[in-house]
Amino acid sequence: MRVYSGIQPTGRKHLGNYLGAIRHYVTGQEEARAAGDEAIFCVVDLHATTVAYDPAELRDRTYDTVAILLAAGLDPAASILYRQGDVPEVPELTWLLTAVTAHGDLNRMHQFKEKSAQQRELVSAGLFLYPVLMAADVLAFRADRVPVGDDQRQHIELMRDIALRFNARFGGDGEPREILRVPEGVYPTVAARIMDLQAPERKMSTSSGSIEGTLYLLDDAKTTEKKLKRAVTDSENPPRIVRGPEKAGVSNLIDILAATTDRTPDEVEASLADARGYGDLKVAAADAVNATLAPLRERYAELRGDEAAIEEALAVGAEKARAIAQPVLAEVREAMGVGPRG
Ligand code: TYM
Repeated sequence: MRVYSGIQPTGRKHLGNYLGAIRHYVTGQEEARAAGDEAIFCVVDLHATTVAYDPAELRDRTYDTVAILLAAGLDPAASILYRQGDVPEVPELTWLLTAVTAHGDLNRMHQFKEKSAQQRELVSAGLFLYPVLMAADVLAFRADRVPVGDDQRQHIELMRDIALRFNARFGGDGEPREILRVPEGVYPTVAARIMDLQAPERKMSTSSGSIEGTLYLLDDAKTTEKKLKRAVTDSENPPRIVRGPEKAGVSNLIDILAATTDRTPDEVEASLADARGYGDLKVAAADAVNATLAPLRERYAELRGDEAAIEEALAVGAEKARAIAQPVLAEVREAMGVGPRG
């Protein structure tokens, strides 16, 4: 059972990334370790080139993101942690997979529509092909399970379709051979979609949110508290600490508090039944977020300074990743009739 996930090195990572994904990477690592396997995690620098970006900054953001993953508990001795651009088999597989990817499907991707609307100068072909590169990430490793937040569902469905179509087209006559494993998305039961604190109808995001509405993992405790205390709620009188369709802000805070205290949202609601107002919910959420992130923030500060050590860890990861991806790619090329007979 192989676990795989990827994360972008763009911008600063936020609480949504942590609760929706990063903390589940650590669980995935432990499950894989218990099964005598290695989970695989990738910092996707090639994906980051699909929108306007600064090259020097990209490298820095990649180090930042690797240091965050290490600080959160990923262990390069137990898992494979690599930088996407270090594994050339993946972009090669991307091209090969375009043969079984429908243009119309790519055109329907929400993320493409949103991000292309944000671009000022150029909507790159890379942005359009983004989901194919993401499919190649996972399919090159024949991964079974992909822990991600709710916003990645459409991308995961597409990669499953690509794998199925590839096997049907190139897996031989009769019952097609499973050349590419069809992976499954694994979504958190709580906090699968953390919303912007200032605009709770929008997901928390580095590319489209406001600084005040986004809780960065590396914000200090005071800033975290300030942002949570100013979170938009609603004007119900008397205030009700329950989830509901008209209560996006309160629902989001309940989700955050539940995820950071390992409780269900129902339990959180029950625990605050006697609260005087939303202030109690906000203070409890701020305390719980700060307590959850304190060890990560501390470890990050220790790790980020040593770029040589980060590069060393990434080099080991890339070598292990390539050793897995190469035979998969060889089979794909062979099945597609690309290059000399195998
Ligand atoms: P990225 O870098 O935008 O986000 C990393 C992870 O964080 C999750 N996430 C959220 N979860 C809950 N609430 C939110 N507001 C929130 N915002 C982000 C994302 O779902 C993701 O799991 N396309 C991917 C990166 C990628 C990838 C892959 C993922 C590239 N190749 C292969 C899995 C497998 C992305 O942009 O993630």
